[in-house]
Amino acid sequence: MAKGSVGRNVQAVKRLVPRQVKDALIKFRSSDGSRDFRRSPSYAFLRNLMDRYRVERLVGETPDGFQRRIHQFLELEDAPMEGFQDAEKQRDLSIRFMWGHDHDFGPFRLAGQMGERHIWLLSTFMDDFRALPRDLVGKKVLDIGCWTGGTSLLLAAMGADVVAIEEVRKYVDALTYLRDSFGVSNLEPRRLSLYECSGPEFQDRFDLVLYAGVLYHVTDPVLSLRIVFDSLRDSGVCLLETAAIPSGNRSCATRALAYSVPAAPSRPTGAAGIGSSPPRPPFRG
Ligand SMILES: C[S@@+](CC[C@H](N)C(=O)[O-])C[C@H]1O[C@@H](n2cnc3c(N)ncnc32)[C@H](O)[C@@H]1O
Repeated sequence: MAKGSVGRNVQAVKRLVPRQVKDALIKFRSSDGSRDFRRSPSYAFLRNLMDRYRVERLVGETPDGFQRRIHQFLELEDAPMEGFQDAEKQRDLSIRFMWGHDHDFGPFRLAGQMGERHIWLLSTFMDDFRALPRDLVGKKVLDIGCWTGGTSLLLAAMGADVVAIEEVRKYVDALTYLRDSFGVSNLEPRRLSLYECSGPEFQDRFDLVLYAGVLYHVTDPVLSLRIVFDSLRDSGVCLLETAAIPSGNRSCATRALAYSVPAAPSRPTGAAGIGSSPPRPPFRG
């Protein structure tokens, strides 16, 4: 695509974005450098939720057995289990096991490749965008590209019934192991590509879809968004976070957080929150 037409498309997309989303993004971006998310109102709430996944809360495993098994995952380097013909052409992340989100298990802690991103992400949607309630009891949530599942575990601890999909088998195995070891009955990790989630099992099913850190990975972003859109129930909400194009002309933030707009033409527009949560302004400030 020619450079000029990229510029025109960006302008066209910008015209489609509702005012309140633009305002929230500008506010978010301008405060991004100085703002310490650890001081945000939801940080302590989310950190505390992670305490449910410490060794003293194990139900299906002994502490020693648990630590041994986690270390087996960390040492895993396996291309055939992912079905790759030529490992050279694949991402390192899919072959060598790497822990995704920081996790303090008590007697030992793991530093994830993405640090406390799971807490940053959810606290941002809670506090900056006012798009995620703390109580998700009764809500069905799809977490796309869950990696080792920091966000999935938090969403489950908030009470949601979570389906966590991930295309890399070793991460699904690890999250399934965490699920079983901590007896998390409302979390279902599945080894699936997002592109496999277009069947009836996924249509009109979810109150909330978390589509974070994946859009820039996929080969057909527009098709992926269509699949996400179809998976939402009426009034369902997609929380999207993605890296975007670095730009000197401020036409595009290097990281974009977006709060979904309506799931279908007949569905309510500009709705904040999820399902039956009381109406409130979509964004702070
Ligand atoms: C950068 S990580 C983001 C992890 C997490 N969602 C977050 O925001 O912290 C991207 C994850 O998406 C997975 N992924 C990439 N493409 C996918 C697809 N088409 N279907 C399912 N998972 C995918 C990757 O394997 C990786 O685990």
